[in-house]
Amino acid sequence: MGDLADGDRIALVGRARDLTALQDGQRQAADGAAQTLLVMGEAGIGKTRLIDEFIATSTGAVLAGGCIPVVGEALPFAPLTQALRGFQRQTATASPPLPPDLMRLLPRDDTVPTTASSGRALDAAVSPTAQVRLFESLLGFLGQLCASSQVTVVLEDLQWADRSTLDLVGFLVRNLRTEPVLLVLTLRSDDVGRATPFRQWLAELERLRTTTTLELERLSRDDTSKLLSGLLGSIPPASLSDRVHQRSAGNPLFAEHLLAWSNDSQGSVPATLQELLGSRVAVLAEPTRRVLRVASVLGRVVSLELLAEVAGESEATTEEALRSAVERHVVEPRTTGDYGFRHPMFREVVYAELLPGEQRRLHAAAADVLTRSSDGSYAVLGEVARHWQAAGDAERAFRSAVAAGLAAAEVYALADADEDLTRAVELSRELPDGAFEDLAVDRIDLFAQAAQMASLIGHSDQATALIRDAVAMSDDAVRQAHLLEREGAYCFNNWLFDAAAVSYRAALELLPAQPPMPIQARVHAGLGMLAMAATRLDEARERCDQAVAIAREVDAVREEGQALNARGVVTAYEGDVDGGVEQLRRSLAIAEKLQQPDDLAAAYIHLCHILGLAGRFDEMLSVGRDGAAALRRLGMHRQEGSFLLANLSEALIKVGRWPEATDLLRQALALRAHGLQSFPVLVQSARLSLVIGDLESAQDRVEQVTALLADGGAPDAWQRERLELSAELALWQRRPEDAARLADEGIALIERNDEQRFAGPLVVLALRAYADLAETARARRAGRQSATAVRKGHGVAARARALQPDPLASDTCEWPESSALALSGRAEIARLDGKDDPRRWSDAATAWEEIDRPFAVAYTRWREADAVARRHERSEQAITAVRRAHRLAIRLGASVLASEVAELARWYRIDLSAPATESPSAPEAGSATAAAIEDMGLTPRELEVLAGLAAGQTNRELADSLFISVKTASVHVSNILRKLDVSGREEAARVAYRLGLDRPP
Ligand SMILES: Nc1ncnc2c1ncn2[C@@H]1O[C@H](COP(=O)(O)OP(=O)(O)O)[C@@H](O)[C@H]1O
Ligand SMILES: [Mg+2]
Repeated sequence: MGDLADGDRIALVGRARDLTALQDGQRQAADGAAQTLLVMGEAGIGKTRLIDEFIATSTGAVLAGGCIPVVGEALPFAPLTQALRGFQRQTATASPPLPPDLMRLLPRDDTVPTTASSGRALDAAVSPTAQVRLFESLLGFLGQLCASSQVTVVLEDLQWADRSTLDLVGFLVRNLRTEPVLLVLTLRSDDVGRATPFRQWLAELERLRTTTTLELERLSRDDTSKLLSGLLGSIPPASLSDRVHQRSAGNPLFAEHLLAWSNDSQGSVPATLQELLGSRVAVLAEPTRRVLRVASVLGRVVSLELLAEVAGESEATTEEALRSAVERHVVEPRTTGDYGFRHPMFREVVYAELLPGEQRRLHAAAADVLTRSSDGSYAVLGEVARHWQAAGDAERAFRSAVAAGLAAAEVYALADADEDLTRAVELSRELPDGAFEDLAVDRIDLFAQAAQMASLIGHSDQATALIRDAVAMSDDAVRQAHLLEREGAYCFNNWLFDAAAVSYRAALELLPAQPPMPIQARVHAGLGMLAMAATRLDEARERCDQAVAIAREVDAVREEGQALNARGVVTAYEGDVDGGVEQLRRSLAIAEKLQQPDDLAAAYIHLCHILGLAGRFDEMLSVGRDGAAALRRLGMHRQEGSFLLANLSEALIKVGRWPEATDLLRQALALRAHGLQSFPVLVQSARLSLVIGDLESAQDRVEQVTALLADGGAPDAWQRERLELSAELALWQRRPEDAARLADEGIALIERNDEQRFAGPLVVLALRAYADLAETARARRAGRQSATAVRKGHGVAARARALQPDPLASDTCEWPESSALALSGRAEIARLDGKDDPRRWSDAATAWEEIDRPFAVAYTRWREADAVARRHERSEQAITAVRRAHRLAIRLGASVLASEVAELARWYRIDLSAPATESPSAPEAGSATAAAIEDMGLTPRELEVLAGLAAGQTNRELADSLFISVKTASVHVSNILRKLDVSGREEAARVAYRLGLDRPP
């Protein structure tokens, strides 16, 4: 048998199908649908080789990095760091500059902007959103790159990835949408254990529509033969091909080294890849093996200088020793002049054979050399800490980890700081206080700093646990209070409101009343915010006032701003909306001046919320737009930003500006906020689906919302909103019994808390449900049932009247909607009693018209029409009322409502097509679209679908853009084809063009 061919690798064998899959992915990405390709396969199967080949033939920007197996845990963001550094080197000036958040990932102090390198900046950004901010930055950076070319991101060997990297990859996969980005991930499938969190992560990834899995298969007999001929430089005898193929089972790495093995070894053929690679190393001379052992301990790709120094040899000797390992393809020189193992399996094999004493000794030597040659950067300090730990020197490992963590925190390298400080905390548990001598922190500080880091990267549970330990260790009252304040804030961020209150109160108890300190103001403000979030208004007011007073006394501007925020909401809730807006604007001004991200977010969100309650929608929309832009700048648009967008869309839905609301919600949904933060967006998109009449989508969203809140932790106000929404949906789905139950539940909730001024909608919904039940029972002549419904309905009315303020009293002017709600409620009571009264409905409709709530207007006009028709059958008056109600619903695009009215018209045999000339709110002249909808009988939703068809959208695209299921989309499409009496989508599109219906209504 010949020798291995020298120099470069042989030509790629087979893999045509896999290369095509990668290229297809790239093409799809280029067409504006970001793709993820997951390349899986056992060690040595050829994942890296395939990717190399693909990269060599592909155009555009490539960012490539791999995870590294290090002793202990993996390095946070290692593959990303590597990818960015490589990319920077490659492109030097040609590419957009890295955003500051990403610069912090690169472990070079000089790349870090000076503004971030102060402890103050750290303290100021107590934000669970920091990690998200980093992710957003990367997303933004990729977006920028995409402007000039298509982008391929390769992250290899994810089986060794740390948690931060997995979070990041998950984020990218979910958030890359229309960007021309192909994400290639490789994974050693034989290394993935069962039922690990990693498996779960993987399963989630694989479920996504944009993810394609590529399982690399073993080489066939023929391909193995080709591989051999490449290696040998001549065609191998058939018997050799057979033997190698049989032994290697078509694993190229196995085949490659089996061939080499047979050149210089005898005896029985190694059975496993490990054994084979082990015997490849075993034939090397001892000096070579010694250097390999050092290399395996160092782990990463290293310079000759470092290798030599740790090995305790000269560079010349070391280089000489490496030569035979390079010749035998065990080690490979890199273009940078460094050395690394040719395949990671070699490192594993060599490391596994170290004797325990040898392993410790070499790690200690590595730590020593790295410390001496270190430039003091946190990355090297962290590496040193890991080596000391593996060397069994806990104290030195601890001291290096502290130094690394603090250095990383100083430059805002959050994930590294978290990793190092967590390691330090764990090590410190076994160490005496003496270990802290000369360090910048004591034991308590260490825990507090570690907690802060954990909180910053969004690991709230860990943050809470660490800060609790710190509190338990402290015996100085003021210090403990500071720690407890942090504990409260972490709990609040983690939706643990009760626990947060306990911490804040404990903090206050520890502080002397005199002299006043900023920390007191901060704790009071925190308690105020908590009470406000739970709508406990008296308490919130008191706390905030106290916080403001203290803050002013000691000139604590930031704390004053925080207190004014919650205070403003309380003022408005208590009826003084203008006063509340004033306070919130001051709070916003302070946050703006201090550029405090979290305070800014809270100020914008609450100001918009209150302006919305006040019905000052124009003002709200303009503040909201400013806020959204500001939050985007701060990288906070995903969580807090989507909150804000939800607020804005709520207003737009109320005033009937549904296309704009659709747009905003589409943006907000695309941000995919995490956990409870996604609640507001989901609720508003449910509401939008509901008023539009897409009940199926509304149902989906309501289920999502219900599941989200089922775990607890959400404020009562959100449960109330969920119940309101579910009850209304049930009514439109003609499930009045369920609606009554849901609304009842909501009212019971309100009776227990301070939210009585928000009872109106629930009360009206409950009355409507009982009125529906009573009417149905009456129609069926089920006397007992109708009596029950009437009794229960009056029960609700009585409970409503006991609330403060009474939502059914007409002089309640709490909110802009109060009197319209009261009028609607009283009209429902008349209907409940079998005395349905058109005048009551018309009064209610007028009240809704005055405050511009078109959906409520349309609903009440329907009821009015129903009541008129019931009294006067097909009178001129009834015909006019029914037609008017129908026009209103149609013009608004409220399709369920429109079909309810249409049914009413059928019942009384009223022809809807004639113009309703007497209607005071007849459609404006030239409303051709409305007329066309009526002519063809298309619902507003169908009209939207038609516009999509005209634009050539597929059912999948329609589903995506309208937030409906693919199934629903296809049902809409076939309905449209039937109604337009056309045979296919193209013909439908032509009709749409002809009628000018190629834009959504
Ligand atoms: N299709 C192939 N054609 C030629 N050589 C291959 C092929 N696949 C893998 N190899 C070689 O086999 C060895 C192991 O491949 P590698 O890509 O490092 O495996 P993995 O990344 O899956 O562990 C490398 O030396 C590589 O060049
Ligand atoms: Mg590989």
